[in-house]
Amino acid sequence: MADGIRFFQLNTGAKIPSVGLGTYQADPGIAGEAVAFAIKVGYRHIDCAKLYGNEKEIGSALRKLFNDSVVKREDLWITSKLWCTDHAPEDVPEALDKTLQDLQLDYLDLYLIHWPVSMKKGSVGFKPENLTQPNILSTWKAMEALYNSGKARAIGVSNFSSKKLGDLLEVARVPPAVNQVESHPSWQQPGLHAFCKSKGVHLSGYRPLGAPSTGYGMEVLKNPILKMVAEKLGKTPAQAALRWGLQMGHSVLPKSTNEARIKENFDVFDWSIPEDLFARLSEIEQERLGKGTAFVHETLGAYKTIEELWDAEL
Ligand code: A2P
Repeated sequence: MADGIRFFQLNTGAKIPSVGLGTYQADPGIAGEAVAFAIKVGYRHIDCAKLYGNEKEIGSALRKLFNDSVVKREDLWITSKLWCTDHAPEDVPEALDKTLQDLQLDYLDLYLIHWPVSMKKGSVGFKPENLTQPNILSTWKAMEALYNSGKARAIGVSNFSSKKLGDLLEVARVPPAVNQVESHPSWQQPGLHAFCKSKGVHLSGYRPLGAPSTGYGMEVLKNPILKMVAEKLGKTPAQAALRWGLQMGHSVLPKSTNEARIKENFDVFDWSIPEDLFARLSEIEQERLGKGTAFVHETLGAYKTIEELWDAEL
């Protein structure tokens, strides 16, 4: 299979570019440069969020790229996410307007509910006393209005279990187009993968490299099976991890602010992992790295345990 896998088609009919640049922890001062470099290398998909604190800077970089005719707006895919403090229906359009203003755009290609968690309006940080009871349906109705207005050309969710996604699909008038979740060879989530596929919801994978060097317990890129597969193909473990995601049918959102690694992570189209080696990747030991502990509290908020947040899904 020398299949490029450049795009995936969403249930809206739109085509989402399969590799997007992640911008979480892309520090102010370098996030804009990373975006500009990535677009010059060929990336057409940038994954943003209000939470990341760098949308203004990314907006200035995008504006310059448009002004310099490096790329046209219509050739880019820009995603952003509604933060937990903005779940009240009246706050949702304001939050999108602020993101659009910061990114200097008229519309987003995709707007996601960042977590199935809500927090007090205006609160800062992850203190348990900020947690409130989410009402996903009323937030979703406000998201649907944004979709209908054309300001968000697709809408979706992030960090939703099959149970939470299924509950939403039961009542949504506009079904979510995407569920963006942690996804890499050490966290494959076959159940969620199958559920999303059966419902026509595209799974987009964040933390596709296991966020090396950020202090997570497991070092995904050092896994011996992944390393073996990469070595056999003459690729890096990062490239093998990303190509695994593409061949699973997931878009992947590797974050980097380093020019060599931005290029490396985009060199995943003109080769593939053959079936026998691909099958070996399913033997990799599994662990969720981002457990969402900040969103769980035994007395405050909606989820008393991590199992409740994820509906005990593996
Ligand atoms: P840097 O920005 O210095 O390149 P994830 O996308 O899974 O969240 O991982 C992001 C982390 O992985 C960042 O710390 C990033 O650092 C690092 N990284 C990005 N690309 C690669 C790569 N090809 N090989 C190793 N580490 C990488």
